[in-house]
Amino acid sequence: MLVIVKETYDDMSKEAAKVVADRLRKKPNLVLGLATGSTPLGLYKELIRMHKEEGLDFSKVTTFNLDEYIGLPPSHDQSYHCFMHENLFKHINIDARFVHVPHGMADDIDAFCVWYEEEMKKAGGIDLQILGIGANGHIAFNEPGSSLGSRTRIKTLTKKTIDDNARFFAKKEEVPRFAITMGIGTIMDAKEVILLASKASKAEAVKAAVEGPITAMVPASMLQMHRKAIVIVDKDAGSKLGAEFENYG
Ligand code: F6R
Repeated sequence: MLVIVKETYDDMSKEAAKVVADRLRKKPNLVLGLATGSTPLGLYKELIRMHKEEGLDFSKVTTFNLDEYIGLPPSHDQSYHCFMHENLFKHINIDARFVHVPHGMADDIDAFCVWYEEEMKKAGGIDLQILGIGANGHIAFNEPGSSLGSRTRIKTLTKKTIDDNARFFAKKEEVPRFAITMGIGTIMDAKEVILLASKASKAEAVKAAVEGPITAMVPASMLQMHRKAIVIVDKDAGSKLGAEFENYG
């Protein structure tokens, strides 16, 4: 695990964008795993800038998103389809045929999950997976207690995640109760992962993920077993890490 602590959220985002751009320049048909949420917004903004100002080319890139709410159509403004379109896809030259976001309205969700895993395999596997982390240590919708070997499947959202997400919906009752999510085993199959975290509210989770024991109660701690994991955090999210990380980045 390489841990990089940057001074600010902007610095964290730019560092992550540098890694993504480097991998993309080396492999134009990169298979990129993507996350939603507030943390990767700065990374996406920087990638858009690199596309517009430096010609960073996404035309051959294939993407797979980590998760999606069940019951929200892609057109819903809180769907992850919509999030990705608004915050990244519509600003870059990505080919819509190569974009994959789990389908929360699929008739047969279990069959969809099998198909999604197959598509990842067919694409040659994910080269680089972007991840955020929940304050409880979750990655994607793999909440504490999720199987460390899990694959893409339906998950019930915890009360905490429903409460955290309620701010994005008119009423708490509107927050979906279920989601499709890549499993921890799926994420571990990515050839490389970048975990991003910003703000003091993530400091405990980052410490537990990086320095704590590997446990299903902190799903992100499984990344300690990954052969190529980079953790990029801002100073606040890294504030509880041991002193040996002080000089990184
Ligand atoms: C989103 C996802 C989630 C978020 C996590 C952090 O696709 O998989 O695990 O990465 O909940 O969310 P933010 O970045 O909003 O703090």
